[in-house]
Amino acid sequence: MSEGGQVDMKNDRDWWKGAVVYQIYPRSFCDTDGDGVGDLAGITSRVDHLVDLGVDAVWLSPVFVSPMADFGYDVSDYRNIDPTFGTLDDFDTLVATLHAAGIRLLLDWVPNHTSAQHPWFQQSRTSRSNDRRDWYIWRDGGGPDVRPNNWSSAFGGPAWSWDDATEQWYLHLFLAEQPDLNWANPDVRHAMCDVLRFWMDRGVDGFRADVVHCIGKDPGLSNCSRIYEGKSLIDHWYQPEAFPYIEEIRATLDERDGVVVGEVILHSAEQLAEYTSTRRLHMVFNFLLLFAPWDAKAWHRVLAASLHAFARADACSTWAFSNHDQERIMSRYGASDARARVAATVLLMLEGTVFLYAGDEFGLQDADVPDERIVDVDGRDGCRAPIPWDTTPTHGWATSDPWLPWPPNPDEINAEVVSGDAQSIYWAYRSLVALRKESTAIKHGVTRLHPLNGDVMMFEREVDDERIYVVANFGKAAADVALPGEAECIFDSAFPTGGFDESGSDTVVEAETARVYQAIPLGDGTG
Ligand code: GLC
Repeated sequence: MSEGGQVDMKNDRDWWKGAVVYQIYPRSFCDTDGDGVGDLAGITSRVDHLVDLGVDAVWLSPVFVSPMADFGYDVSDYRNIDPTFGTLDDFDTLVATLHAAGIRLLLDWVPNHTSAQHPWFQQSRTSRSNDRRDWYIWRDGGGPDVRPNNWSSAFGGPAWSWDDATEQWYLHLFLAEQPDLNWANPDVRHAMCDVLRFWMDRGVDGFRADVVHCIGKDPGLSNCSRIYEGKSLIDHWYQPEAFPYIEEIRATLDERDGVVVGEVILHSAEQLAEYTSTRRLHMVFNFLLLFAPWDAKAWHRVLAASLHAFARADACSTWAFSNHDQERIMSRYGASDARARVAATVLLMLEGTVFLYAGDEFGLQDADVPDERIVDVDGRDGCRAPIPWDTTPTHGWATSDPWLPWPPNPDEINAEVVSGDAQSIYWAYRSLVALRKESTAIKHGVTRLHPLNGDVMMFEREVDDERIYVVANFGKAAADVALPGEAECIFDSAFPTGGFDESGSDTVVEAETARVYQAIPLGDGTG
């Protein structure tokens, strides 16, 4: 273990500002017990990699006890580890190992719904008069044939299931196996906030709050407008009823200096910004660049709107270009290594907090998953393929037959081979993370977006007398670019570890390449 990672983990409540957080999908990271599913011991065994990459924190997708109808996003015990992943002791070992390396840990907290197997729901469904009845959202509708409203679930089909035993409908914005909790009930809020305390007392530094915008519900549960009928509602779920609950969550975190990043899947930067403040969420994911096509105009428009909306709210975006629900960066941009590097450059030079999805740093693509191996209800298996660590037949796992197929070409595209090549995408990520650590302008500076110049997007990051220029050429031809002043090139996405010595104020940026420049302060001349 590198000694270099040691940082003062206490006394830095603002550590998350400008930080780089690494998302691990535990089932797919590394398996040590041979069952084909990744586990906590596997993560602990790879902490050296996280140190090498230089990340500040890790977010683990859910590792709690779960029947796995939605692979952990259906929790049946929030205070224990699912045996697939290990034990609480394994968890404590992971926390200690990460902290010794100066890396913080965020857990995935699923507040909107539990598993239908959770004892709370099991009790709730026993009778209409059960103490826990009101912990979930039960309605009569018009009897067994007429649902209470026209809402659809995120995975298709109605958001209501009829329960024969008590002759009522219950609400589930996701699977029927994921009944929605009733956050209007103070006992639910108390129980769920206690879960946060439990894990913070165990050493966790914060949480990612799953679809946290969904916990607010219009008390009348009115029909959604016809245009959303039959569609997933969660992308449009702007219900301000969530804000007081979010404030309660924040107050709970503040008791122990924990931080929270909210998953809010809205498409308006203005609405997203409302979820973050000193009383609400520390961070809120902004997926708008993830959803943008490969086009400088589209990225420029999104960036301009986001910067404007978040500045008005006196907050910063939290950026993610991929995760366990979305196509990987490489696959999204047509398996283009050059484009994936441009995306990585823009992402790691942005203002705010940055989330990376494990495996993107090796340029992994989504796996081709044949029909007989599909396991997810929503077509997300490809991006969840296991990470190949080396060139052995098991690719560093304890079995050669993991729960999902490997990503394409694992003999060539694996951690060992890719990180062994000093001009690979891995070294692009590694160099960019290091630049972000070294430069206050990149980590904390304000952003000035330049007008779009054909296929070239340029922005500046600035703090005090330090200024960085980021230039991304989305086009298929090299572009002549006039920089705002004399500058030295400090990164080129095509040559991440060097070979780009250049200074001046005019430059050529090759097709589908991004460069980062450091302004040479006036008076710092050569004469
Ligand atoms: C979030 C998770 C996704 C899950 C859903 C329901 O969007 O990222 O994986 O299926 O919530 O919990």
